[in-house]
Amino acid sequence: MKPVIFIPCDAAALAVGADKVASAISQTLAARGLDAQIVRNGSRGLHWLEPMVEVRTGHGRVAYGPVKPSDVEGLFDAGFLEGADHPLFLGEARELPFLKRQTRLTFARCGVTDPLSVSDYRHYKGLRGLENAVTMQPGDIVQMVTDSGLRGRGGAGFPTGIKWDTVRKAPGARKYVVCNADEGDSGTFADRMIMEGDPFVLIEGMAIAGIATGATKGYIYTRSEYPHAIQTMRAAIEIARREGILGPAVLGSEHAFDMEMRVGAGAYVCGEETSMLNSLEGKRGVVRAKPPVPALEGLFGCPTVVNNVLSLASIPLILDRGAEYYRDFGVGKSRGTMPIQLAGNIKHGGLFETAFGITLNELIYDIGGGTASGRPVKAVQVGGPLGAYFPTSHFDIPFDYEAFTANNGLIGHAGIVVFDDTVDMMKQARFAFEFCALESCGKCTPCRIGAVRGAEVIDKIAAGAGVAEQKALLDDLCNTMRLGSLCALGGFTPYPVSSALTHFPEDFGPRPQSQTQPAEAAE
Ligand SMILES: Cc1cc2nc3c(=O)[nH]c(=O)nc-3n(C[C@H](O)[C@H](O)[C@H](O)COP(=O)(O)O)c2cc1C
Ligand code: SF4
Repeated sequence: MKPVIFIPCDAAALAVGADKVASAISQTLAARGLDAQIVRNGSRGLHWLEPMVEVRTGHGRVAYGPVKPSDVEGLFDAGFLEGADHPLFLGEARELPFLKRQTRLTFARCGVTDPLSVSDYRHYKGLRGLENAVTMQPGDIVQMVTDSGLRGRGGAGFPTGIKWDTVRKAPGARKYVVCNADEGDSGTFADRMIMEGDPFVLIEGMAIAGIATGATKGYIYTRSEYPHAIQTMRAAIEIARREGILGPAVLGSEHAFDMEMRVGAGAYVCGEETSMLNSLEGKRGVVRAKPPVPALEGLFGCPTVVNNVLSLASIPLILDRGAEYYRDFGVGKSRGTMPIQLAGNIKHGGLFETAFGITLNELIYDIGGGTASGRPVKAVQVGGPLGAYFPTSHFDIPFDYEAFTANNGLIGHAGIVVFDDTVDMMKQARFAFEFCALESCGKCTPCRIGAVRGAEVIDKIAAGAGVAEQKALLDDLCNTMRLGSLCALGGFTPYPVSSALTHFPEDFGPRPQSQTQPAEAAE
């Protein structure tokens, strides 16, 4: 049997030289007169081992990594086509502890298959959910999604089934499914990994959403910073059309559904659903006041399902295995699995999908191996730039929407950014305001003005000008932004600020100006 070599084409692997490794392997095969098939797979999400090259052998898929082009000759000399030992030998991929501890439901195929092969997709249980959906009544599909307990993975954790039911029942000759793939949160990359590593699962999830709600057209909205995801998704949509997965008769049924990619310029606020709809309509990405909610009046004023990539990519499995199967994972009202993204100063960063309920302690230390710098962990920020900072004393919090809310935090898109003890939490608080000021759409005053004033107040604390008074002012400002902002960009910016102030008060105080001002302002 011809050996098969898997070399990831995911952006994280490309960034550390996967293409160069692929061409070194091709050249070595040619130079040695060897015959092997090269498959460019997605990433398995063990980022510190990328590029992680795998070889399919008689005893499973054996992994090597991180591989540099200069390692390739040595790998061939050692006999890596037969899965032989070598200093980069990692063992059988699926037995790697980082992978073995996961429950991969949404990411089951990512890194395993050729992302653009429909036969691979079918072989690994793809399209079964859609095959079921085309035979079901829309109301029954929605009920199944509701029963699964799936909540939106984009940030707010809103029950997906309830949203779909609103769209299904809304009157409208035309309805849409919009996939939010803007993925602007710091430390997040799961949406991109799905689009690059298993695009058909997203297409399948969107087609099911269309059938369930009566929508016949879908859009995936992403950012121009994701060129590989855009390319792969566009190619996958073309293939899905050719294969009859999309088009006037989805899988030969009476249901029509088609979709397109749309690329935004990369403004954080364009991830907010109403701002995204404006951007999709060709307008400025400014937040719309709600009501009306997009489920009733969304894209071009029509009923619209807006869901995150991960929410939609979880749907095919639910339709295949049933609501109960999915709901059996998780804790409390957080059902199923969450693809958690470990980033920042962490030794073993990457994608870790697991059932809700795991603690930050397990994630940061047991799985992530602590910091990459080797220094003690000081804080983690969970949920993107609007998420709270947690000190190590809070690392026993389980990954669960309600537990995070009770601790004044949010799960958001499940990105965790780790900081060691060299981080200055007052600078991080200032950064939250700076970020909000830069990304604000400008529609409401608490956010537009408050973010700028917040950075100024922190500068005054740093300058030692009436510190107690300024801290009280900061508290007041945070309350105003939290309660008075039109959307969560202004409304949640107080989370990182207040959590930094609450948990690390020792960092808030006078210090030399050069340490607090941004570089350009200090010049
Ligand atoms: C400032 C801001 C940025 C957001 N960015 C994203 C994003 O990049 N991706 C996303 O799915 N949701 C984002 N959201 C949440 C969306 O508004 C919306 O709740 C989500 O797309 C709904 O999908 P879900 O129910 O599947 O989570 C953002 C919200 C705000 C306020
Ligand atoms: S909170 Fe900020 S981003 Fe949201 S509507 Fe107001 S100005 Fe725009």
